[in-house]
Amino acid sequence: GKPSIIAIVGSLRKDSFNRQLAKKAKEIIGGRAEFEILEYSDVPLFNQDTEFPAPEAVKRVRDIVKAADGIWFFTPEYNHYFPGVLKNLIDWLSRSVSRDIPPLLSGKPAAISGVTPSMSGTGIAQDHLVTLISFLNMHIMNVPRLTIPNVMQQLDEGGNLLLTASAPYLEKQADAFIRFIEEKKK
Ligand code: FNR
Repeated sequence: GKPSIIAIVGSLRKDSFNRQLAKKAKEIIGGRAEFEILEYSDVPLFNQDTEFPAPEAVKRVRDIVKAADGIWFFTPEYNHYFPGVLKNLIDWLSRSVSRDIPPLLSGKPAAISGVTPSMSGTGIAQDHLVTLISFLNMHIMNVPRLTIPNVMQQLDEGGNLLLTASAPYLEKQADAFIRFIEEKKK
């Protein structure tokens, strides 16, 4: 059947440009894959004292991520890093549920994109994210990654993401990620 992609957005902001970028990716993918944005703002701060039994929100995100054929990260850059909310989520996802079940991110295909108002394009944050998810043995698609600088030049009058100049790059990345997931499934 169709591959299923879960988008993890590294910003909890309602009007997040990265969330809007994820929505553009969903539009571009159309009927070629299932594509949903993971909602995780209710996942608590990780604390080993409250790890077992897992909080309900953690159980929910684990089940969603486990069922996905691929994870597509859309993350802002905070202080040349990816945001703490994303590290917190990944820490939860990295933990084995039991001795018999392998960690659920291991071997999972991953793509990375980011958008920012600044010149940097989120590349430094992406490099840190790669370091983290390589350690967790995710299967990372490093080419292409997508870095979009100067987002203010790609907004409509209402301040929403139009994605003019960068749209062809998002299309290329979406095509590549669907192929990458399908190769992996063979
Ligand atoms: C930022 N921002 C930012 N941008 C960037 O390109 N490099 C950076 O290092 C930082 N650092 C940073 C730190 C903190 C604490 C905040 C809150 C913001 C700006 C950031 O890119 C901007 O707020 C984006 O709009 C955030 O992404 P979303 O929420 O629009 O997806």
